[in-house]
Amino acid sequence: MPINWFPGHMNSTRQAIKDRMQAGLDVIIELLDARLPGSSSNPLLAALTAGRPSLKVLNKQDLADPAVTAAWLDFYNAQPHTRAIPLDAGDKSPARALIKACRELAPGRGDMHKPLRVLICGIPNVGKSTLINTLVGKRATKTGDEPGITKVEQKIVLENGFYLFDTPGMLWPKIGIEQSGYHLAASGAIGRNAFDEAEVALELIAVLQNRYPEALRQRYGLTELADEEAVLEAIGVKRGAKIRGGAVQLHKAAEALLMDYRQGLLGRITLETPDEMSAWRQAAAEEEARKAAAREAEKAADKARRSGRRAASSGDAT
Ligand code: G4P
Repeated sequence: MPINWFPGHMNSTRQAIKDRMQAGLDVIIELLDARLPGSSSNPLLAALTAGRPSLKVLNKQDLADPAVTAAWLDFYNAQPHTRAIPLDAGDKSPARALIKACRELAPGRGDMHKPLRVLICGIPNVGKSTLINTLVGKRATKTGDEPGITKVEQKIVLENGFYLFDTPGMLWPKIGIEQSGYHLAASGAIGRNAFDEAEVALELIAVLQNRYPEALRQRYGLTELADEEAVLEAIGVKRGAKIRGGAVQLHKAAEALLMDYRQGLLGRITLETPDEMSAWRQAAAEEEARKAAAREAEKAADKARRSGRRAASSGDAT
């Protein structure tokens, strides 16, 4: 799916993360969207912070399918130096569980002499501000930049010996997995002008038909679920998206469906499982390798053509 993906602050945030790694970093919190825990994970962040203890926070768990969230928690908890917890960022006591999990990931740190230095990252709209507000309460103080660290970073003292470093939501240069593009768009992580809503809605309907058909039937009073476009039209009819003459405005129907999904009105729905994500990653890597090989072959053929021409012209000259 073509997405106008603007990585925005990517370079300055990337630099801020590199600086933080150098200045000292004990734990990285990556805030993920529990409805798309694979697609909302930033490959650039993984590359930048490889090997550091990592806490994956599956936020918006109240909107996600609990059984699939459990599978994702198992998936991330099985990775080295990694812990994963589910969260509803507005909820106070689970948010405190996050502080405990960070302390467990870096047991040697967390007092005034050796403060625990934690970086928090996440894609836009994943709930980072909400979580920080919940964590901060009245006790935390925000301080200015440390010398040598770019102005992008903000330091929050959560409690004695616990520093949280906040960076702007960082995106990555290219969405390599097509399904991830659809899921990020459906979740609301990407600005609405950057993609075709009907295309994303059709993809969402395909996931719902496959795994949550009852959600579609109940929300829109559908008796049968035909192909995706017919379902989108039926949603449009139910939601008054018809124009004079009777045709359904598919983009209006799509908007209604996406809005309902984002607000949780279709129930608790997760768009991807760990197994699906692994298969998509592998397919994308194979496709990337195939394209790289084709580029190399094209370059070699080009070089052979050029040296053939050179040989021919030097032959002409003699
Ligand atoms: P960001 O800083 O990562 O960009 O995200 P932010 O905290 O602004 O949250 C984006 C939206 O997600 C907000 O809704 C927020 O209320 C909602 N949100 C954050 N955490 C959770 C969660 O755990 N569960 C649910 N259900 N929603 C969550 P909004 O409609 O954009 O704003 P508002 O009307 O709530 O202020």
